[in-house]
Amino acid sequence: MSQRTLTQFLIEQQRKEAALPAQLRLLVEIVARACKTISHCVNKGALGGMLGNLTSENVQGEVQKKLDVIANEKLLEANEWGGHLAAMASEEMETIHLIPNRYPKGEYLLLFDPIDGSSNIDVDLSVGTIFSVLMAPEDVSGRAVTEDDFLQPGRKQVAAGYAIYGPQTLLILSVGTGVYEFALDREMGSWVLTNERMRIPSGNREFAINMSNMRHWAPPVRRYIEECLAGTTGPRGANFNMRWTASMVADIHRILKRGGIFMYPWDAREPDRAGKLRLMYEANPMGFLIEQAGGMAYDGNHRILEIEPKGLHQRVGVVMGDRDEVKRVVDYHHEAGLTKQAI
Ligand code: AHG
Ligand code: MN
Ligand code: MN
Repeated sequence: MSQRTLTQFLIEQQRKEAALPAQLRLLVEIVARACKTISHCVNKGALGGMLGNLTSENVQGEVQKKLDVIANEKLLEANEWGGHLAAMASEEMETIHLIPNRYPKGEYLLLFDPIDGSSNIDVDLSVGTIFSVLMAPEDVSGRAVTEDDFLQPGRKQVAAGYAIYGPQTLLILSVGTGVYEFALDREMGSWVLTNERMRIPSGNREFAINMSNMRHWAPPVRRYIEECLAGTTGPRGANFNMRWTASMVADIHRILKRGGIFMYPWDAREPDRAGKLRLMYEANPMGFLIEQAGGMAYDGNHRILEIEPKGLHQRVGVVMGDRDEVKRVVDYHHEAGLTKQAI
């Protein structure tokens, strides 16, 4: 059987009834190409001078890694000239990036987390790139794009995905017709389809949460995890396993492949902050993929994709993965009546 590449897959999607627009196809191909370049940089590591911190901080107040900035540049450079975008936004940039006047403008908005799981770069664990695509509002042609144009709920995404730079480099993509996985074939330089219409396997008793924050969690999250930890002697009557990679891409990828639940909930360390993860660059694109694979994505109380964003760098609590497990956590929140706490 001949291998199907990303290009073939996108052309097939374009020919379907609910045809994938040509500009969106170009956009996905360009993002995938940029991810190929980033993968090369990640692989070079110390040999390419890619490791270590810079002295700068990003808008989130986090120290930037060299690779955060390099990957950000690669994505900007790759996407500026194609004519498919109206503007871009990145976790690593305070304000939006407009398409320079010398290039034509398109109708899409691209948002990205250039390197997710940055703390893993220097210790050679998996990191990734997350991206999200929205349509620019219709009235945008003829005026400058503003930050407000990006503030659309995640259900309006027309595509989302991530690249994972692990033992293999993979691209996980949804254009709203299920979730597809492509592996980078380095000899051929192409993305080859390795998994289609991915579904989150149900019933895997495995949770991903940073346990060191346990004392700061809200009671419903504590209750859920305590019941998991009680194993066969507790109300769940079964033992649970724990995994935490500190790279959302790696943890979500595992959940897509073998099930379980991922949580980075609101906690009391910074009570006014809704969570650690970012709505526009992390929670929305991952929520889109998780839902497309049959799972659920909530902030504890609300469906993530319904949240009306108020700021580009807004944070949010995250509970996503296996439907049954996420539903249980949401029920615990509703039972506790903590509807305001997680937003
Ligand atoms: P980033 O590297 O883009 O800042 O994201 C890191 C995120 C996410 O990938 C991961 O799940 C989480 O932060 C890890 O946080 P802790 O170190 O607090 O566990
Ligand atoms: Mn991230
Ligand atoms: Mn990042």
